[in-house]
Amino acid sequence: MACMVIVGTQWGDEGKGKVVDYYAGKADVVVRFSGGNNAGHTVVVKGKKYAFHLMPSGALRGTQLIIGNGVVVDPKVLLEEMEMLKKEGITPKLLISERAHVIFPYHRALDEAEEQFKGKRKAGTTKRGIGPCYEDKAGRFGLRMCDLINREMLKEKIDHLFPLKEKQIQMYGGRFDFSKEQLLQEYNAYGEKLKEYVCDANLEMNNAINSGKKVLFEGTQGTMLDVDHGMYPVGTSCNVTAGAACTGAGVSPTKINEVVGLMKAYVSRVGEGPLPTELKDETGEYIRKKGAEFGTTTGRPRRVGWLDIPALRYACRINGISGLAITKLDVLAGLEKVNICTSYSLDKKTTGEVPPSCELMEQCKPIYKEMKGWQEFEAGKAEEVAKKGYDALPKELKDYVAEVSKLSGAPAYLISIGPGREETIILKDIFGK
Ligand code: IMP
Repeated sequence: MACMVIVGTQWGDEGKGKVVDYYAGKADVVVRFSGGNNAGHTVVVKGKKYAFHLMPSGALRGTQLIIGNGVVVDPKVLLEEMEMLKKEGITPKLLISERAHVIFPYHRALDEAEEQFKGKRKAGTTKRGIGPCYEDKAGRFGLRMCDLINREMLKEKIDHLFPLKEKQIQMYGGRFDFSKEQLLQEYNAYGEKLKEYVCDANLEMNNAINSGKKVLFEGTQGTMLDVDHGMYPVGTSCNVTAGAACTGAGVSPTKINEVVGLMKAYVSRVGEGPLPTELKDETGEYIRKKGAEFGTTTGRPRRVGWLDIPALRYACRINGISGLAITKLDVLAGLEKVNICTSYSLDKKTTGEVPPSCELMEQCKPIYKEMKGWQEFEAGKAEEVAKKGYDALPKELKDYVAEVSKLSGAPAYLISIGPGREETIILKDIFGK
């Protein structure tokens, strides 16, 4: 098995950092193909927490890392992450696609101004400039890594764009207080520091695939945030589903062998928009606290809810999920009963499908199947439990996993019962030893 894609099946924050780190230990190359520093992937090793926003989550494994053309790169954030790793004694083996687009300060200002303009229709973005950078990409106004490392090109393009960006920001009622000279100085310095990593990363990646290397494509956000398939217009601004690995990294669909769908044992959402199974009661509070459901990127409290099977089944269909990685099963431990939303009631009818608009999704009332909860693991014992393997888990937990597989139509490949590397149980080892 050579190429595997990992995507989020929910609203993001499904535990990508941990699961990608796990598979990265067996991969030769890890490639990010979409999003930017709106992502926050957390990896916990020996109790120490690392949060990555741009750096592929294989960074701690010493694996070859690639930032693909589909990613939007804030050079300041990337350099900070490289610095953080260097302090830990890790020099990331990084390649950055020369075709990846660059985030500038005016993108962040536009993100803020657009959200303000949208008012009650805002998405609750991370305000990192992701959307405006993708807007520039589609509008053919964007600057890419190949421009960043070329002083003359950068100056020529910024000279041309600057007055337009001023007008755009002011049009949305935002403040434009940037100095072009300062911006050029700052970005020239970033270009200098990053140029040794910028290359035709796609060529390197395809050479690796052709020579039989194991390549892991690390998705960001989640299917329900995809700009085409997610909850439009409150999702993110790019494609984040499995097909985006092909366009955002430049890998042929014929080369991809497996698509792993990441899911939490419940759902969470940071930002605006409908969430049919949302828990606004003390159970929700319990899950939020126990699951530390606060955004890695913005620190915002996440909204939480019971597992949503129509959304999961939809994600399995869109992505062609071959297996599931189920995280945070430990968070639901200790609850007497857990619910699974098997379908929605919409307009007096029962449906198992996700409607196309936020307005309809808002009206969906969840129909639940009640399951028995499972007992809490003894404090600090999850690693020991994981070592004993799947069969040693509480029967109710296994029943829950079996039900999720049955309802979604996808087998469980990996389950996670704690944030640490070792608190993982493999049911099907797709990447080999
Ligand atoms: P943007 O991606 O910053 O433009 O934000 C668009 C929407 O996607 C907002 O509702 C964000 O909260 C959400 N979002 C973006 N990135 C993530 C993520 O990594 N996890 C969860 N939600 C995200």
